[in-house]
Amino acid sequence: MTQIRSMSQPVPRRPGELGVHSLDQFNFVVPDLAQAEKFYSLFGLDTREENGKLALYTDGHPHRWGVVSEGQRKKFSYVSFGAFEDDMPRFRERLEKLRIDRLDPPKGFESNGLWFRDPDGILIEIRVAEKSSPNQKATFEMKGGEVAKPNAPNRSKAHTVRPRRLAHVLLFVTDITRTINFYRDTLGLRLSDRSGDLVAFMHGIHGSDHHMIAFVKSDGPGLHHLSWDVGSINDIGVGASHMAQKGFAYGWGLGRHVLGSNYFHYVRDPWGSYAEYSCDIDYIPVDTNWKDGDHPPEDSFYLWGPNPPEDFAHNFEIVK
Ligand SMILES: [Fe+2]
Repeated sequence: MTQIRSMSQPVPRRPGELGVHSLDQFNFVVPDLAQAEKFYSLFGLDTREENGKLALYTDGHPHRWGVVSEGQRKKFSYVSFGAFEDDMPRFRERLEKLRIDRLDPPKGFESNGLWFRDPDGILIEIRVAEKSSPNQKATFEMKGGEVAKPNAPNRSKAHTVRPRRLAHVLLFVTDITRTINFYRDTLGLRLSDRSGDLVAFMHGIHGSDHHMIAFVKSDGPGLHHLSWDVGSINDIGVGASHMAQKGFAYGWGLGRHVLGSNYFHYVRDPWGSYAEYSCDIDYIPVDTNWKDGDHPPEDSFYLWGPNPPEDFAHNFEIVK
């Protein structure tokens, strides 16, 4: 954990360039908060009731990664990005220059951030926040077993998997190129990799995982998955097995992605989106200019793993 948070080390910052440093927080609505509390607790998150909403934390980490609200139906609501305080005037000027309408914060989420919508109507905030994205590559444990001792515990003694932090969010959008351009021009995010007009991955300029946000093409906006960082492939397996025993067997994994390189297992949540256990994702340091690529989907979706469920990219938030 200390290697992720690096509280004693200076926060990396790319000089002279304007960009958000973190995906600070997400919010979405579900019809039953008790169901959400059960799902995310089983998944290993630290869930807390705050002002009638469900706040999501990770074990031992002070940052609130997201808030789940109760409403009529499941719907992604907004995403807040964290910025350095002295960059806020320049973000304000940039939004004015781009003639982007500034909005009031949603009820119950009053803040002094800059609120606006992306081309699909997804609500975005830029707010002053501490950098919650990693300042260096997250630690990853993969060592062989020790000799002269049993290395795997009995199944009943398996540890409880506790994700360390939010890794990224993947949203449905209707136009991949338009979305890349919008998030680049407003937030200063950069494209890491894409597969044509199907999917795109974007990172922050102040030291970031390969993607802090990603987009997949759909007929409307929505939440595809929230990804949570764990420390080993064993953690992914133990977590996935635990969720299956508790009734959440539907998903995809174990596998390894090509774009981002992370190992994964996706657990389908009660609303048709996914919670991903992820580890060892590629990292883009503050002084690295990542060369983005456009990859054929059949060669870049995953390196190995089972076939994904047929409805893996179905957007259940679209109501017809
Ligand atoms: Fe992911």
